[in-house]
Amino acid sequence: MRFDVITIFPNVIEPMVNESILKRAQDKKLVKIQAHDLRDYTEDKHRKVDDRPFGGGPGMVMCCQPIFDAVKKIRGRRKAHVVMTCPRGKTLTQKRAKRLTKHKNIIIICGHYEGIDERIYDELVDESVSIGDYVLTGGEIPALVIMDAVTRLIPGVLGKEESLDSESFDQNRLDFPQYTRPADFRGKKVPDVLLSGHHKEVEQWRKAQALALTKKHRPDLLKDSK
Ligand code: ADE
Repeated sequence: MRFDVITIFPNVIEPMVNESILKRAQDKKLVKIQAHDLRDYTEDKHRKVDDRPFGGGPGMVMCCQPIFDAVKKIRGRRKAHVVMTCPRGKTLTQKRAKRLTKHKNIIIICGHYEGIDERIYDELVDESVSIGDYVLTGGEIPALVIMDAVTRLIPGVLGKEESLDSESFDQNRLDFPQYTRPADFRGKKVPDVLLSGHHKEVEQWRKAQALALTKKHRPDLLKDSK
């Protein structure tokens, strides 16, 4: 799988994808992540990628030319799914992240400024993705969130010790609580059942705890599963 990120801040993307699991996934050639500086594609001699909105109003709008040319050049002969990061998109969920793993090539355009020329949505964008109902200063953090959520789902990326089995949001449940040594930390004890060695009882306890935590913190997930 390959991600190409079109951004005016490639230096924001690079350090994050060259650490930890994203780095390991790239070292294993399971994914390739490349950041492209949008300003390298502009025909403007001042490397401008935005302009004032027709009709007036505050702020700037991202222009068509650099983005159209960047997508064309980066895509080349490959088929690529083009994602725009923006608050108007569908919210990223675990299900949507899983769906994105089906694409071999994803181009992510990091939105900025007051807006993006609508013709970019009309002609280039296959899917707009939001990472939540709040407004960020730009699309770089959302792009990183999308790549992280998708990459860890690619088979082979996570080791056995970080398995994808029984994760939060699978079956619309939060994860059960976890404990590690010591069994007694300053008088705060680990639940007895976890020390009992009875696998069946542990499993039942975890299921019940996951349900209780979901009811308490995210009852909306239970509604969604019906
Ligand atoms: N750009 C600005 N805010 C955003 C959000 N919440 N999700 C995705 N892209 C954005």
